[in-house]
Amino acid sequence: MRIGVLTGGGDAPGLNAAIRAIFKRCEKYGYEVIGIRRGWAGMLNKEFFKLKPEDVKDIVGRGGTILKTSRTNPLKIPGGIEKVSKNFREMGLDALIAIGGDDTLSVAKALSDVGLKVVGVPKTIDNDVSETDATIGFDTAVNMAMRVIENLKDTAESHDRVFLIEIMGRYAGWIALYSGVAAGADLILIPEEPFKIENVINFVKKRLEKGEKSTVIVVAEGALIKDYKGPVTKDTEVDQFGHVRLGGIGEFLAKKIKESLGVETRAVAPAHIIRGGPPTAFDRFMATRYGIAAVDLVRDGKFGMMVALRGGEIVTVPLSKALSKSKNVTPNLYDEAKTFFE
Ligand code: F6P
Repeated sequence: MRIGVLTGGGDAPGLNAAIRAIFKRCEKYGYEVIGIRRGWAGMLNKEFFKLKPEDVKDIVGRGGTILKTSRTNPLKIPGGIEKVSKNFREMGLDALIAIGGDDTLSVAKALSDVGLKVVGVPKTIDNDVSETDATIGFDTAVNMAMRVIENLKDTAESHDRVFLIEIMGRYAGWIALYSGVAAGADLILIPEEPFKIENVINFVKKRLEKGEKSTVIVVAEGALIKDYKGPVTKDTEVDQFGHVRLGGIGEFLAKKIKESLGVETRAVAPAHIIRGGPPTAFDRFMATRYGIAAVDLVRDGKFGMMVALRGGEIVTVPLSKALSKSKNVTPNLYDEAKTFFE
């Protein structure tokens, strides 16, 4: 058996742990593992190599992906799916394990729909893939973001400043919510709950009146302002999956607060800093279990499926179900966080 493995979309800590687990499980079964470089770009251009034991040695704790990644979308390239299918056959693959978020997995599903033997592993720091409690990289990103917020809290308090900390997560507020609560942020703004600018200004004003001279606000990069058309963006260019580059909401709000209240207000966007570095033990362990389960799916001939985590158990779900909608922060969860907005 010859199994291909690729990582697509944004890199995420824990990818290497999954690749290592896939290799090791395959080694046990006597399967050959083919590493595809740069996600779907590697399938389109036949960029691949046979993985060897030394490739996966000591990579369990390394961030990024040894296979490299890209945001290439064969569905957007004329004849792309046909080309990937042809290369799949020419590369002699019996099956392919695609590790990625909803974008990468949507291509995996399209290939599965045309009969290719594909299984998926959920990865994204954004944690917005449905049917799974967690995606590879989310826990590490939360922990990194938490530390950034805590560091900025020190400065905010020492200098009596207002800080807006803009956190990645695309159209979901998972990272902002978890890290904000964990770091004791004063306010957290997420895409799931559009807000009014005047409410944010009033929030800071009330704190000042109470004698709280510093305020730390965590704002998800995709947070939405009520009555505004869409999120604040850096530019209008979209990637091959149709996503515009988010960012700028922190600076935007900082300016509004400074203008209205005259207080020293700063915006910081850690951006990709929370997407790199060594994965947490949770991510390493979960990614390892995902890798093992993905190989077992191939062994059992169960294709068009994604491995997932549910209540501590590794389960499998159809890719179609996992991709039917994105997973967002529930109103209940956000309500719990509101307990600390004061
Ligand atoms: O999906 C992961 C993510 O880090 C998002 O949180 C963010 O919006 C996006 O990727 C950034 O993508 P890129 O690194 O391609 O600019």
